Amino acid sequence: KRALPQLDVNGKTVLVRVDFNVPIEQGAEFIANYDHRLRATLPTIEYLLERQCKVVLCSHLGRPRGKVDESLRLAPVGERLATLLGRPVTPLDECVGPAVARKVSVMSPGDVCLLENLRFHQGEEGNDEGFSAQLASLADCFVMDAFAVAHRAHASTVGVPRHLPTAMGLLTQREVESLSIALENPDRPLAALMGGAKVSDKILVLENLLSRLDHLFIGGGMAVTFLAAAGKSVGASAVETDRLDFARVVIDRTQAAGVTVHLPDDLVVANRFDPNPSSVDTVLVDNVPDGWYIMDIGQGAASAFAAALADCKTILWNGPMGVFEMEQFSVGTREVANSIAELADATTVVGGGSTAEAVEALGLMGSMTHVSTGGGASLEFLEGRILPGIAAIPDV
Ligand code: 3PG
Repeated sequence: KRALPQLDVNGKTVLVRVDFNVPIEQGAEFIANYDHRLRATLPTIEYLLERQCKVVLCSHLGRPRGKVDESLRLAPVGERLATLLGRPVTPLDECVGPAVARKVSVMSPGDVCLLENLRFHQGEEGNDEGFSAQLASLADCFVMDAFAVAHRAHASTVGVPRHLPTAMGLLTQREVESLSIALENPDRPLAALMGGAKVSDKILVLENLLSRLDHLFIGGGMAVTFLAAAGKSVGASAVETDRLDFARVVIDRTQAAGVTVHLPDDLVVANRFDPNPSSVDTVLVDNVPDGWYIMDIGQGAASAFAAALADCKTILWNGPMGVFEMEQFSVGTREVANSIAELADATTVVGGGSTAEAVEALGLMGSMTHVSTGGGASLEFLEGRILPGIAAIPDV
């Protein structure tokens, strides 16, 4: 795929697709603390500014479904970007049309503007040719740096490249290279550490990775279904009954392939699924009380996971180990995150979404080899699927 240095951008007006889809409803302070997606685009923006470009950024925010939604305007995100960039970012209140074209035409080299939320127009998600053409008409060339939305075939991801010379941005390149490490020639042992709420979300990833792994660690809500499949009693925790067979197949296939599966030996349980239940306990995996909920992996499991992970050379982590958003059940995730962060010799690749949020909350971003900005996109990539937004970038 054509990389940024292979695109002639000097002095040009460059349309850059970024993914600034941040949890805006949580307010400016939250965005300032969880601005990984914004920071991750700085290398591309700075690269273009150094080359006297006029930088026209475009993104979606939330799911307004083709209508203007005042709470999903991008201006507050632009403000945070301006702080990070150390220069003004002009928010526009539209993303296409004559007024936008006029404003872009009077930009000077080194100026940065941010178009309004692309999803205010139905043409974006509808991958409308006319909408792509209107976006493309604003610039001389296009840079795709929104890895996190590359799994969507929308006007700004697959349409615009049909109209303009296109390259992948530095973030997209880094994402593709880092996530590919696990799929192609990883340093061994290779481990996948899987957690998060549901097995269903990870089925295709597990299927794609299974034959390549040396170790598979399972925590989080996912572990409930795997423990149930292994014949353990899981109290009142939600078992994905339609995934029990899949979990059994995974256990059988991993055994046959010599992959070591690590399930938690102890668990933190609570009498209610609540941030502040009246009773919390740590029990061995065979002793989950009837009517109680599994909330986190226990201290013993966290230490055992950490010890086994310490021998691995490539670690792919996707999904928290417990109900991380509830402070008292974030300990397992925290311990595992800290232990991975300490591994100086291992390549550590963290999937986006809630795992990236956990790593960011713990201040460990700098200690991982790569933390993906993509939730759904990183999963689909690891499933071995071709992402339309990457496929649309021309080969060199
Ligand atoms: C994400 O946050 O995963 C991306 O921005 C894609 O958003 P979407 O799921 O609304 O398409």
